[in-house]
Amino acid sequence: MRKFIAAANWKMNCTKEQAKTLAEDLLAVSHTLDKRHRVILAVPYPYLIMVHDIVHSNEYYSVAAQNMHHEKFGAYTGEVSAPMLKSIGVEYVILGHSERREQHGETNALIRQKIDLAMEYGIKPIFCCGEPLEVRERGEQNEYVMNQLQESLFHLDGAHMKKVVIAYEPIWAIGTGKTATIDQAQEMHFMIRSKLIKQYDENVANSVSILYGGSVKADNAEALFNCPSVDGGLVGGASLIAADFEKIIEGLKR
Ligand code: PGA
Repeated sequence: MRKFIAAANWKMNCTKEQAKTLAEDLLAVSHTLDKRHRVILAVPYPYLIMVHDIVHSNEYYSVAAQNMHHEKFGAYTGEVSAPMLKSIGVEYVILGHSERREQHGETNALIRQKIDLAMEYGIKPIFCCGEPLEVRERGEQNEYVMNQLQESLFHLDGAHMKKVVIAYEPIWAIGTGKTATIDQAQEMHFMIRSKLIKQYDENVANSVSILYGGSVKADNAEALFNCPSVDGGLVGGASLIAADFEKIIEGLKR
């Protein structure tokens, strides 16, 4: 059965000391969790080993990288590869975040290559999808997101698809303070799950956690997570404040 997940995306924030304190503080809410839950901390590369060491003895916590390269090794100055992440115990990797798509020109085809490498190394992808504002205004968000899934994920067989976490993050809601309404989130998540049933089967569809991302905050998390088709959140800004992210963790379905 799928897990209810609170995933923190720290993006390019925190010094080493801040990262250490934040990770240690977040362990404080571990008593509210059980085996249906998972807290994933997607931290900057330099802190992956440290944060992994801090959380790994707690079965409900994992670390994630925020990206990785689409090749295994070679002359790619400044890049980080799947085998490197695997060798330091990283369990998840965010792939296809809209900031990478926009700022680094990542295409659905490139993200597909990264998905395959993550699978090869047993790293679970947190696959981000979501439409820009103009697509939402034209009412074409369903087709847009379906195309992202089709071009980057649906070549996987069912066994591999079960390892994927999907994060629906409407771009117009990321870092803007503008959250999707409960109805907008529920509608998209329901559609993604229906598509998974059609493409695979009920068993696969019910194994994939579908997270909502985009201005999830301490005061709206619980309402969003209570949508029947929403299995948790991918949280940027509010994940940098321990008290706020703790509240978000507590908002996971019980
Ligand atoms: P936000 O970011 O919570 O700050 O909107 C979410 C994300 O980019 O994953």
